[in-house]
Amino acid sequence: MSHARSIAALIPAVCALALAAGCGESDLRARIDAAGVYSPGRNDSVPRARIELGRLLFFDPELSGNRDVACSSCHLPVDHAGDGQPLGRGVGGRNAGSERQGGVELPRHSIAPFNRSYAQSLLWDGRVERLADGSIRAPVPLPSGIATLLEAQALLPLIDRQEMRGEAGDVDVRGEPNELASISDDDPRAVWDAVMRRLMAIEGYRNAFATAFPDVPIGEHGIVHVVRAIALFEMRLWELTDTAFDGFLGSEHRPPSDDALHPLARRGAELFFGDAGCVRCHDGPLLSDDAFHNIGVPPFGPGKAGGIDEGRFLVTGDPRDRFAFRTPPLRNVALTPPYMHDGVFGTLREAVQHHLDPEATLARRELLVGGVRVPIDPAVAADIRTTLSEDVRPLRSLAPDEVEALSSFLESLSSNTEQFGLPPAAGEPPEVPSGLPVQGSSVERAPRF
Ligand code: HEC
Ligand code: HEC
Repeated sequence: MSHARSIAALIPAVCALALAAGCGESDLRARIDAAGVYSPGRNDSVPRARIELGRLLFFDPELSGNRDVACSSCHLPVDHAGDGQPLGRGVGGRNAGSERQGGVELPRHSIAPFNRSYAQSLLWDGRVERLADGSIRAPVPLPSGIATLLEAQALLPLIDRQEMRGEAGDVDVRGEPNELASISDDDPRAVWDAVMRRLMAIEGYRNAFATAFPDVPIGEHGIVHVVRAIALFEMRLWELTDTAFDGFLGSEHRPPSDDALHPLARRGAELFFGDAGCVRCHDGPLLSDDAFHNIGVPPFGPGKAGGIDEGRFLVTGDPRDRFAFRTPPLRNVALTPPYMHDGVFGTLREAVQHHLDPEATLARRELLVGGVRVPIDPAVAADIRTTLSEDVRPLRSLAPDEVEALSSFLESLSSNTEQFGLPPAAGEPPEVPSGLPVQGSSVERAPRF
């Protein structure tokens, strides 16, 4: 991708000249192509039973210490795999319809993952990433057999006390001691084994694992199979190939169509891949360079350490990485507000506008976050400015109607709800093998026990 990026860096200047004469469709396509952007293909060869198992696991709170949180508590189909709120809410919270109330406030915004089989790094700080030698780096030693970033990532919420595991001494929703939480933080493997023991005590799961992984002898299924099934489910459900932009690009199954993009969105695309300079960071199939930049997003929420979130620095320890976050992929971005690693911007327009003058946002005394006035600490804002990327601003100043055009282009990246199956929530199983209430469901059901 770095090759594509270096070409892309040259393109805006080339097109600035071409624009004088009017940048035609073929120029735009050439620029998009040079940026390594294409319509991702659909992978239909995944065994159905494995996806089905992943689906059950994703929605089942049995995997959490207190049996109260599932992956789907924070990645709701009805919210397009995000949770619609600035910061994630973990253990102790409650899902009521599409809203999650109460619970531990997490330092970061829940990311809605789409087409992530194409990503080279996951999470806002890339703490799960593919290294140049092909190996996977993660914050904890990975069990053998983990092959993809999505599999590695799915192991982490299970051991995280705030997201799913709970605190030592907790009791679960049935009043039983939380045996996952009493395990030491130094022993992730023991937590994964304990999750596996829970699942294998349930007949529905014993059958589902045997059907999904028929080559594995009974009794030898492990956490690797859990996360493999979850990752396949994520890849299958959250794979978008049918947006207006995909129609414009075309794919091996479909010729490109100039009419697929609304004229305003087309103008936005020309800016995005041209003078607005967005493609310097938002390139590749997901419109992310899988790299890390400090674009001056104001601080909000509890932070990671010492009340602040220094982003990529917490992974690399390199002071130049302070406050840098992964360039977010932009597919479905219009459907997944709020925006940024801490969810400070409620609308797409605010998120785009911020890039035009990040210093101006940081100079503000307060922001409205989710309708609440939040003061910005001037000392933290000054600290953030010290490592601010020089490449955030567009290559020239943009008029308000150009910001409008950019937003229209970003909207053309939204999935056709028919493919995603919304509403009602796609992928939601009517019940899960534990009998616990399906989490993140748009329908409330009484527990069976
Ligand atoms: C309590 C809320 C919560 C729960 C439960 C939860 N997540 Fe997340 N998820 C988040 C937040 C917040 C982030 C961003 C965290 C960060 O970057 O530090 C995230 C990030 C992710 C990402 C990264 C996407 C990307 O593009 O980088 C994936 C994939 C994901 N979660 C899958 C899962 C799976 C699978 C489970 C269950 C095993 C799960 N999540 C459970 C809140 C949650
Ligand atoms: C210097 C690299 C860079 C450039 C150039 C850039 N972005 Fe970004 N963009 C980022 C990073 C990094 C973030 C996330 C920052 C954070 O959360 O702290 C982001 C966030 C966003 C978001 C919010 C996405 C979400 O899911 O939260 C949108 C929308 C966006 N950018 C659009 C644009 C547009 C439109 C342009 C061109 C005007 C642009 N970006 C130019 C790096 C860049």
